[in-house]
Order: sequence, then structure tokens, then C-alpha cells
Amino acid sequence: AADASVDQLAALLKDLPPLDQYPNCFPAINPVDIYRSHITSILHKITGVDPKVIYPALQWTATLDKGDLVLAIPALRVKGKPDALGKEWMDKWEESPLVEKPIHTGNFIPFFFKPGPLAKAVIPLARRNKTEYGANKSLGLKDQNDPSKGKKRMIVEFSSPNIAKPFHAGHLRSTIIGGFLANLYEAAGWDVVRINYLGDWGKQYGLLALGFEKYGSEEELTRDPINHLFNVYVKINQDITAEKEQAEKLQAEGKADEAQKIRDEGFDEQARRYFKQMTEGEEKALALWKRFRDLSIEKYKETYARLNIRYDVYSGESQVPEEDMQAAAKKMADMGLTEEDNGALLLDFAKHVPGKAGKSLGKAILRKKDGTALYLTRDISEMLNRYKKYDFDQMIYVVASQQDLHLKQFFKIVELMGYKDIAAKVQHINFGMVLGMSTRKGTVKFLNDILRDVGDHMHDVMRKNEDKYKQVADPVATADTLGISSVMVQDMTGKRINNYEFNMDAMTSFEGDTGPYLQYAHARLCSITRRVALSEEELASADFSLLTESHATELIRVLAQWPDVVQNTLRTLEPTTVMTYLFKMTHTLSASYDHLRIVGSEPELMKARMALYDSARITLNNAMRLLGLSPVERM
Ligand code: ARG
Repeated sequence: AADASVDQLAALLKDLPPLDQYPNCFPAINPVDIYRSHITSILHKITGVDPKVIYPALQWTATLDKGDLVLAIPALRVKGKPDALGKEWMDKWEESPLVEKPIHTGNFIPFFFKPGPLAKAVIPLARRNKTEYGANKSLGLKDQNDPSKGKKRMIVEFSSPNIAKPFHAGHLRSTIIGGFLANLYEAAGWDVVRINYLGDWGKQYGLLALGFEKYGSEEELTRDPINHLFNVYVKINQDITAEKEQAEKLQAEGKADEAQKIRDEGFDEQARRYFKQMTEGEEKALALWKRFRDLSIEKYKETYARLNIRYDVYSGESQVPEEDMQAAAKKMADMGLTEEDNGALLLDFAKHVPGKAGKSLGKAILRKKDGTALYLTRDISEMLNRYKKYDFDQMIYVVASQQDLHLKQFFKIVELMGYKDIAAKVQHINFGMVLGMSTRKGTVKFLNDILRDVGDHMHDVMRKNEDKYKQVADPVATADTLGISSVMVQDMTGKRINNYEFNMDAMTSFEGDTGPYLQYAHARLCSITRRVALSEEELASADFSLLTESHATELIRVLAQWPDVVQNTLRTLEPTTVMTYLFKMTHTLSASYDHLRIVGSEPELMKARMALYDSARITLNNAMRLLGLSPVERM
């Protein structure tokens, strides 16, 4: 099938000499690969260097004034001074239908694509592949030459909030970044399983049940479980604090018996017993907890849907069987990895991992004195169970960098337990903090509050432009979507590891590199499409040789890069790789409108320009959806 598409493309580019096939070359879906392949063949003839060395050495450039592709001469590992080699090779360069004659500068040879054939390759490709332009479904195959062997499986664990507790900035970022990574791997043809690993187990959920008995309301629980459970949890925690203070006070007053009575019968002890019943499978205790969990998940689902996220699995700390953790603990003990310390079970990494690395990992507690398993132990057993269940090829944990040490310890323990092959397949994707995230009503508690608040703010911004505002059909819904885009774009603009300031005014502005700016760029393309209203046949018959203006060729060159950008993002795993491209693309686009008018142009020119804008719309739409945004068609 790939060959057939290559033929189609070759037919499209009548001038094109036969393409050689190279590994990781996908000319049927990536226009730049046509050029890579072509330039490789020429350079191979000139230099005699193995094409397998040349092909990957043809790198993309940061900006188009540096060329569409560039070769670092030393990368070909030919003896001699790079500068002299460059001159010698370029003297032998033969005229190419696709590439301008290169002029080498020092160690580099930049290649500039000839605009005519590029337009013929890129525009029809984007228009034909539509939502798939930029995707490369063969990358995720177990065997690229044999799709029948199936897809590789990727597990992305992300968001993972804690029931009855605030959804904080760390969860927000995990949700946004994890959703994006899952989309990215899907675009690369992996079989992606999205898992939400809820914090839903531990003594605090025994406490929550007690709190519900005292403060709960059935009606509130069904109406707004997330807020209600949180309020109940806050109240019962206040009781606990009060009790503790009371016990201390009594103790200080010498009333040791009364203090002890509180410790023996107070909420804290009751919570411990309640949770013990839960771990022993006591039905009534579990039923209440399960309702809390189910109702919360139902609400989470609604909110995630607004971010275009759905999960395959709602897992959680509660889902790890006690027996499995005991078995893991036994295995660690048998292997001599753990030691008893005051009744607790701990692992001292310095004793098992040589050098600095061992010291920096410190000590980890796996089991408390009272026998309860901890966060870390659950994570270990859950990973082993996931491997059994999903037989994943890779797994990504999207968790804040505050938990770097936890994940390092966790992965290392799995390796020390002898599961080297599993440990080699897991990866922690971390990220920095959000500073000053608060709503107008105070500090943020839940994702819905954040989104509602940004939506309100966005609505205010839109209302400032009265004329435009009147034209928006459903301003509240539009403000909502734009607000969500604002939050997501701000989050994905910098490198993951950087902290950033949650800035409501900056993120909702239509100026600058913001979500609303991207949405506006998309809506404008949709509006042009509606106004010009050319048929599919008219666009298909467009003559691209009419696209000669520098603004047109610049835009075509940027659009050609999109499949490469996706591929590069699979290496960086940084949303900013897509974001940076997208702002470059939309700036090029905005700059072009005054120069590439459609309405009022000659019919043929109109067709060619419209086809170009159509491929821009497709590219922008695909990139926005990859990021998890919902592109709007009107605003
Ligand atoms: N629920 C945890 C928290 O809020 C995050 C879970 C991260 N994932 C994991 N496998 N430990 O801190």
C-alpha cells in the first residue's frame, strides 16, 4: 500500500526522479522525506557515503532562512576538512528538479526546496490525508514491514487525583500533558491505554466515611459529590485536630487516663478500624466507599470530557490486592533487600546501589509499623500487575517533579527485585509547578472551578469588543471553549520542567501566543472557507504554479514541516515542540492574508490560494486536536 501511495505521489510530481527507499523514510505521508530521499541519492553519488549514514544526517532547521534541511558535513564521517569537502562536493552538484543548488557555509550545507514542486507535494497531501496529515501510524507497529504482527502498546497514566481532596495544579498539569502524550502516541500508531490512578485508599477514606455519618447529606452527595465529599473531609479533619489538641491538653494537665480514652475511642482510632474493615472486605464499609468513588468518577468524567480526555481504566490505590503487596514484600525480604527498623520495613538504597546513586536515593519505607502498605508499595505491585495484564511495551507516568524521588526509588526497587526488563520499559514524565493558581473566589479546589473561572474571565474579555460579541451565536459556550484553550495553551507553551505563573489576563488575551489567538486563527480559516465556498473538484483542479509570492511559498514550506514536527515530538515528548511550530505557522499565516487575497482574485488564483488555505486549516486543526484543544469554527 505504501508503494502505491509513493507511485501516486510520483505521478503528482511529474518531474520527480525515481525515489530510493530508506529506513524511516515515509514519502507517502511526509513531504520532507521525499526531499531527504532525493538529496541522499545525490549526495551518495557525489560522496560514495552509505545512504544509511546520509539520510538521518539531513536535519531540520530552527528557522527557514537556514534552509529547509541542513547537513552538518562532519556527520558523514569523511576524512578531510569539512569546509574543503563542502566545496569539493558542491562543485560536483548536478542540477536537481527539487532542490536549489546549495551553497555550503563552513561545516554546513543548507538545502532550500524549490517552491513549485513543493506546493504540488504538500497541498494535495494535506488535503488528501485530512485528519491524518502529520500522523504516522506505522511507527507504533511491532514490525514496520508487517502490520499483521500488531501494534506496540503504550500505557499512559495521568491526572490521578485523590478523592475528597483538592484537584491541585499538579493534577491539572498531569491531565493536560498526559492527554497530549496519549494523543501523540495514538497518532504514531501505538495502541494506547489511558489509566487514571486515583488516590482512593487508606485510613483517610475510613475517616471520610465517619465524616459522612456525622456531616453527610445524601442529597448533596448525589448533586455534587466532589465538593460535598471535600467539605465533609475538611470538617472531620477539623474534629481530629481538635481531639488531638484536647488529648495533649489533658495529658499536660496530668489527666493521662482521659487523654488515653480519646486516643482509644476518638475519630482517629475509629477511622483506623473502619479502614481495617474495608481492607478485610467488610461489605457495608466497602459499599459506602464504593459509592463515594463511583459518584466522584462520574463527575470527573464530565470534566475530563471538556478537555477531550477519556480513560480506558479508572484504576487507583484501592485496586492493588493486599496479597500482592505481601508477596512483593516477601520477595524483597527473601532477596535481602529490606530490613526491619522499629517494626517498619525499609530499604536502604546505599546498601544495594553502589556509589553516589545509591546514597542519593536514600531510604524508603515500604511498610509501616502497624503493617499497612504505603504509596510506594502499592505502586510497585500495581506496576507488576499492569505488566501481567497489559503486557505493555512502554509505560509513562505523568507526575509532578515534586515526586521525582518517589518515582526514582520506585523504578529502582522494581529493577532490584529482578524485573530489569519491566523497569526498562517505564518512564517518568515530570513537570514543574504552577505559581499563584487561584480563582477570583479564592484558592483553587477543583478542576471545574478553574475552568468555570477562566471561562467567566474569557467572557468578560469577549464582551469588551461589542461588535464582535454580538456576532457570536453562543457566547457562553464559546467563552467556555476559549477559556479551556487558554489554560491548556499556557500550560504547554514552556518546557515541561519549567514553573510558570498562572496568569488569567495573559492567557485569555487575543494577542500574543495564546489559546484564543490559535482559536482565532482557526476560526478565520473556517470563515474564509465558508465565504469562498469552492467545491472539492474546483480545489482539486487548482494550479499550484500560480502560488509564486514569497508569502505563499513560506507558508507551504512551514506546512511541509508538520509531519516532521510530530516525529520530532515523539523524541522530545514536549508539548512545546508542537506549540512552537504552531505559533510559527499561525504567524506566517496571519502575515500572508494581506498578500494572498482570495475574494476578488482571478478564478484560477482563487482556487490555488484557497487550496493552500485549506491545507493550512487542516494542519492547524490536526495540531490543535493533537494538543487536546477543540478547534472552534466560528467566534
Ligand atoms: N494521587 C497521587 C497524588 O495526588 C498521584 C499519583 C501518581 N501516580 C503514581 N503511580 N504514583 O499525589
